[in-house]
Amino acid sequence: MTFSCLDQVLEFAEQSQDRFEADLAELLRIPSVSADPKFRNDIRKAADWLVEHFGKLGLKTELIQTAGHPIVYAESPPVPDAPVALVYGHYDVQPPDPLDLWISPPFEPTVRDGNLYARGATDDKGQMLTHVKSVESWLATGKQLPLQVKFLIEGEEEVGSEHLENFLSGNADKLACDCVVVSDTSQFARGVPAITYGLRGIAYYEIRLTGPNRDLHSGVFGGAVTNPVNALNRILAALIDETGRIQVPGFYDDVAPLSEQEQAEFRALPFDEAAFQRDLDVEGLTGESGFTTLERRWGRPSFDVNGIWGGYQGEGEKTVLPGKAAAKFSFRLVPDQDPDAITASLREMLQRLLPPGIRMELIESHRAPGIVFPLESVYLQAAAEAIEQGFGRRPVFIREGGSIPIVSTFARRLGADVLLLGWGQNDDNLHSPNEKFSLADFHRGIAASAALWDRLAAVCHE
Ligand code: BES
Ligand code: ZN
Repeated sequence: MTFSCLDQVLEFAEQSQDRFEADLAELLRIPSVSADPKFRNDIRKAADWLVEHFGKLGLKTELIQTAGHPIVYAESPPVPDAPVALVYGHYDVQPPDPLDLWISPPFEPTVRDGNLYARGATDDKGQMLTHVKSVESWLATGKQLPLQVKFLIEGEEEVGSEHLENFLSGNADKLACDCVVVSDTSQFARGVPAITYGLRGIAYYEIRLTGPNRDLHSGVFGGAVTNPVNALNRILAALIDETGRIQVPGFYDDVAPLSEQEQAEFRALPFDEAAFQRDLDVEGLTGESGFTTLERRWGRPSFDVNGIWGGYQGEGEKTVLPGKAAAKFSFRLVPDQDPDAITASLREMLQRLLPPGIRMELIESHRAPGIVFPLESVYLQAAAEAIEQGFGRRPVFIREGGSIPIVSTFARRLGADVLLLGWGQNDDNLHSPNEKFSLADFHRGIAASAALWDRLAAVCHE
């Protein structure tokens, strides 16, 4: 494949910037929130939008129904003697709440300072669409793509990818590929593109405590009857000590330690801890003692209460001893921790911590192991070259703390190399109000993706 061919592709992409942005804005206007059943029709609309879009590019396209939200699949024709790339992304988004903190409404995409603001802008509609637009740019030049590209775009990533897991197990042939390309992570910093070679996993729970059969007067009953909110506080506090060590028995047994070399590599990254704190407006940081901030975020497990409720939260005061309390909490996991073993040990520990007069229900939800990919892959090197082409700078290699549950399944089931090529920024506000995606990064991502098809195809011939 000659570079002049790629040049033509890149030129087409450059000339199409306004239209590509308009297409992204159209997709962002659809409130495809997967967690909330009231957005079911919009989830379907976003899937249909993609089907129509892939159809217009001339790709063989299918809408695959599942017991949950539909999967969109599309593929370009096979190319003999060239590898196959499978692009994975998600069209579902996180709920936009709290709405009053958005400067412009979450589903009315708005440009400010070169950023496009909308729920899903970076996570993941904008990032995912870079690959669709790069394929469009290749096809617009009247040439075949230099390799076969398959697209697998799901609508349940933000709720744990349950039905995609099932689909993968029954469709390994259809999805057969040499590498999986995922743009659903971030660059290291502004102007420092990155390839992510590790993600944390997750184990997520809801705990419900029930005490007396009704809310009680805290003066008449307090001090004699166990208060479920007090009990919940004690239980959650017991899960982690003051040095940041998680107290679930056996929790660290399978944690793969960070090698000296990896620690040195983390330290060599241009991480500005003061700027990190300034951005969050916090005057100090905490975490497991003996580890740096990047180690804590990328290479060590963590525990967070994600939500907690119980008792009186209205205006003024109410002297109540509530009958119930509940919380949602999760652990981020690293290789080689096993989410199921952790759940078993956690359940036992919680039972032990329950004070008299309290019943517990523990509900398990998201579950995914942490993952680290080897850096030796030829496809990874090809991706580094493509990023250099699109972003004008060679990427650094990083791990990240977020989870993409299906990624470990890809590696296991399809035996393919996974390329996590993130075009986002750490301050893109994913899962927060005012989510954004830099339009410059959107177009650089399209250019890098266009170059990626060229570089991946070249791998076979080198
Ligand atoms: N795109 C994120 C994951 C991510 C973000 C990885 C930034 C690395 C850097 C993804 O959409 C996400 O938020 N996943 C959830 C998964 C969970 C719901 C099982 C997460 O990590 O909380
Ligand atoms: Zn995402």
